[in-house]
Amino acid sequence: MWCSHTANWVAPSLLLAVAALHNVAAQATPDPCLHGNYQNLTDVHRSVSYVTTYPEPPLCDIDLVAGWYRFVVDAESKMPETCVNNFKCGTTVPIWMNGTHPSVSDGIQTRRACANFQSGGASYTPCCGQAVKIGVKNCEGFFIYYLHPTPACPMAYCAGKDAPCPAGKWSPTGLPPDCKDTYPQLTDPPTFLGPVIERNTFYFTCDLTFSGNDPDQAFEFVWLFNAWRTLKCRQK
Ligand SMILES: *[C@@H]1O[C@H](CO)[C@@H](O)[C@H](O)[C@H]1NC(C)=O
Ligand SMILES: *[C@@H]1O[C@H](CO)[C@@H](O)[C@H](O)[C@H]1NC(C)=O
Repeated sequence: MWCSHTANWVAPSLLLAVAALHNVAAQATPDPCLHGNYQNLTDVHRSVSYVTTYPEPPLCDIDLVAGWYRFVVDAESKMPETCVNNFKCGTTVPIWMNGTHPSVSDGIQTRRACANFQSGGASYTPCCGQAVKIGVKNCEGFFIYYLHPTPACPMAYCAGKDAPCPAGKWSPTGLPPDCKDTYPQLTDPPTFLGPVIERNTFYFTCDLTFSGNDPDQAFEFVWLFNAWRTLKCRQK
């Protein structure tokens, strides 16, 4: 039986003794490869090339519902087959797959997913402080994985190897080469001028210099008079 309980996560030495673990194939009809039978996990920060950078919150899969998932990260979007260092994959405790990926004819295979804790005392296996059985299937062109929620945070499954845009940069795919600033960066503090008084009106101006010339970038100016918000305008 596969259930979404943290009890599935055990020290690797105990894993073989967990009697409740049956082969996922027994429950895997219809074909999980078919569209609609799996869900996509699209965060490019799951890549083994991505180092989690403070202050971004590390990824955590504690809320994942047990089921079949396809990573959509880079061209291959495979889970790494070797140990991944801490702080990679957009998380603190990365989870890799100890084993090789199956061929199409292998059907659904079970593998051991290993969470690499930085430390955990003498009883912890290096690179595999906790482990859980996962399912993996080759869907001819992509892989899907039967994943369980993690028992704690911050722990997340790794996938993909291409380096995404660095922290604070963005592109439609999340990957280079067209990484742009997520927010326009001010190169100097804004210059405030005024008031200019004309007959019965007055105005202030605010000059700013910023990087990039993305037509989708906009600024919002909020003027406060005696701490009352009285004027608001947007300018592209
Ligand atoms: C999952 O991602 C693949 C590849 O980008 C895409 O073709 C597919 O439509 C996506 N499925 C869903 C349900 O979003
Ligand atoms: C990976 O699996 C192999 C074969 O089961 C095992 O010998 C090895 O210790 C595992 N590696 C880690 C880091 O757990």
